Amino acid sequence: DYQSDTDSELVAHLIDEELKLGHTLFEAVLNIIPKLEGAYSILAVNEDNPSEMVAFKNGPPLVVGSGKGSTVIASDIQAIMPYTHNVYFLRDDEVALISREGYTIFDKSGHKLQAQETKIDWNPEQVEKQGYAHFMLKEIFEQPRAVAQSLEPHIDLENMRVRLNRVGFSLKDVQERDSLDVEKDWQNTLDAFKDVERIFIVACGTSYYAGMVCEYMIEQIAGIPVEVDVASEFRYRKPVIPEKSMVIVISQSGETADTLAALRLVKDQRAKVLSICNVKNSSIDREASGHLYMNAGVEIGVASTKAFVSTLALSNLLALSLAKAKDRISKDEENQMIENLLACPSLMEKVLAYDKYFDQAAETLKDQKGFLYMGRGVNYPIALEGALKLKELAYMHAEGYAAGEMKHGPLALIDEKMAIVMLVPKDELYEKTISNLEEAKARGGKIISI
Ligand code: M6R
Repeated sequence: DYQSDTDSELVAHLIDEELKLGHTLFEAVLNIIPKLEGAYSILAVNEDNPSEMVAFKNGPPLVVGSGKGSTVIASDIQAIMPYTHNVYFLRDDEVALISREGYTIFDKSGHKLQAQETKIDWNPEQVEKQGYAHFMLKEIFEQPRAVAQSLEPHIDLENMRVRLNRVGFSLKDVQERDSLDVEKDWQNTLDAFKDVERIFIVACGTSYYAGMVCEYMIEQIAGIPVEVDVASEFRYRKPVIPEKSMVIVISQSGETADTLAALRLVKDQRAKVLSICNVKNSSIDREASGHLYMNAGVEIGVASTKAFVSTLALSNLLALSLAKAKDRISKDEENQMIENLLACPSLMEKVLAYDKYFDQAAETLKDQKGFLYMGRGVNYPIALEGALKLKELAYMHAEGYAAGEMKHGPLALIDEKMAIVMLVPKDELYEKTISNLEEAKARGGKIISI
């Protein structure tokens, strides 16, 4: 009997018992897998034979890469990219036997499987800082390109029309997607969309906020009712998914456990699942029935930046495509929307050109007791995302609010020690948001208006 506060230590003991009975490390792992419960991702090595390793997982990701004369294993492809672009995403209940010569994949009963590697088409400079102080800063400056890249495959420039590229609803295996006939697949996507009467969007963190923007776009442009949920709530609340629903799961990594669990739950209910991922062939991408890619390139910073804006760009195209399928948008409106979207990258460049002012602003604001980010409509989720970024990176207290909610409580918090970030574009809610801004100002709040 062993006791430990660390569950993975118990796994090591279980393996050791098997080794003592004379089994190899590989056999030992196969024997103990049925005894394990819960989520794990394990790489086992026996110190008496360190040139052999065994990897196995249930839930969290493990990626194996074959480089020149080396095999690399990590929980994230970002770590592998400097060594190789050929990777295999280990699946649950699979076991990888790794030696100096390479690796072999088995099922949990020890039967050898064909491992189909994925070639990751991210270039090496994406995993270097290229003179930036840190990856996040580099990725902030990569946002315009990320948006352009996410739009590019889906816009037929000659005719200025949207044509979602290789969504692949008809396919069983993601691997077959490259050989799809693009026009046929687009017709198939439109047919699938025509049927959709309800949409559910499920994601976590920043991807969830992107999902809230997506809700707004779809309801505004395509007129289909949308419900958005955080995956960690959705998966446990027995959601009711009526017939003719489509579920959209959003995940940069494609490996977030709650989002993956939510996807599996709705698949069991036979819902149509469309994934929006950045990492191709990740678990969520593989298990969804339709697929869109953020195309943001590798995102190394833990705080999501370019994946967020890429998802917003895709949300517009998705809303537009649903509207087309439902015959709810005119050719002129489509043209206009595409023109606006194509203008985004250069507009984003302009905003980024103001970067030197942000350091000064940070200096002025660093002693505020807290931040309230506020916006209305589509800018409400943007406010939530802004507050999340400040919490995550500056370790300062920040809240995102729908500006119209200010008078229902948060107003009491506002004084000169509180900074208010107001998102006030000149849209149909401009006057109302300005009046919220005036109220905050009257209380002495320090206003930063965008
Ligand atoms: O990879 P995912 O998009 O599924 O990740 C979900 C969240 O963990 C993620 O968006 C997180 O909130 C961000 N890193 C915050 O910046």
